[in-house]
Amino acid sequence: MAARMKLKLKTVFVLYFMVSLMGLVYALMQLGQRCDCTEHDLPKERTISRLRGELHRLQEQMRKSEATKQPQKQPAKPSLPTIFVITPTYARLVQKAELTRLSQTLLHVPQLHWILVEDSPHKTPLVTDFLAKSGLSYTHLHTPTPKDRKLQEGDPSWLKPRGAEQRNEGLRWLREDRRAQQGADSQQGVVYFADDDNTYSLQLFEEMRNTQRVSVWPVGLVGGMRYERPVVEGGKVVRFHTGWRPSRPFPLDMAGFAVSLRLVLDNQDACFDGDAPMGFLESSFLQGLVTMDELEPKADNCSKVLVWHTRTEKPKMKREEALQAQGLGSDTAVEV
Ligand SMILES: *[C@@H]1O[C@H](CO)[C@@H](O)[C@H](O)[C@H]1NC(C)=O
Repeated sequence: MAARMKLKLKTVFVLYFMVSLMGLVYALMQLGQRCDCTEHDLPKERTISRLRGELHRLQEQMRKSEATKQPQKQPAKPSLPTIFVITPTYARLVQKAELTRLSQTLLHVPQLHWILVEDSPHKTPLVTDFLAKSGLSYTHLHTPTPKDRKLQEGDPSWLKPRGAEQRNEGLRWLREDRRAQQGADSQQGVVYFADDDNTYSLQLFEEMRNTQRVSVWPVGLVGGMRYERPVVEGGKVVRFHTGWRPSRPFPLDMAGFAVSLRLVLDNQDACFDGDAPMGFLESSFLQGLVTMDELEPKADNCSKVLVWHTRTEKPKMKREEALQAQGLGSDTAVEV
């Protein structure tokens, strides 16, 4: 694919060059018309004829490469288990940038359905329009976080777990939707909770695709460490490499596990506890679903980091505010 793109690009450049050259030659011919320089015309004619031949050959080549592209457009095999990605999101300056980054990662993953849940009392136009143009298979949901559970301005981000209500709303929709779908394939799949600020390797999605119960892997740049991960011995998870309270039932980051759809459907009550103490949100969901012994280590026995807990810096708006005070702020009609 990449090689073909390269070839095509090269072809376009070569074509461009040829056409420019022909234009130049033509211009030169015009210049030379008045003088008697017949002895120069012959090589010119030859050059033009040679270039014409070259052009024809390249056009032919392009046509052929166009034709061979077709088989790649085949739809994903229906037997591939669907990956349901549940993403909580909330309005902020960087929201559209984060959603753009994540959605363009997800576009590369076959057989994926994105469940985007807004922390909002209604669906916002920004997210609605964004999804409509995303090119993804998606479901747009919303549910506001109750006031008493919301972080206040200035609270550290770890004070209260974020996104519990939204993930639960995603689970509710998924269970209802799957119940409505009949057929053997409707219960096949995997559920992954992907926050909108992380960075995901495409390989991660293929690692999780055949999850039987709960699969696990390392997460980079999390918990004040280079990575956190389940420690695997003899193909089994025996403990967790984490800097903080390793005695938690499942000291895993949200981005560090996926659950089979089957397990989610068989345990209708499994959900996230928004009141769980700090660091226990993941455990509140996984407890009762799986034991440590049953965890399926992925990413080469948890030796590879395929997802990173990146955080986007909050943009500074000092200048914008100063300009706004003078009535010279950026046009609010421009969506950012
Ligand atoms: C994981 O470890 C087990 C036991 O050591 C081994 O049999 C297996 O091949 C390993 N898997 C991978 C993908 O490295």
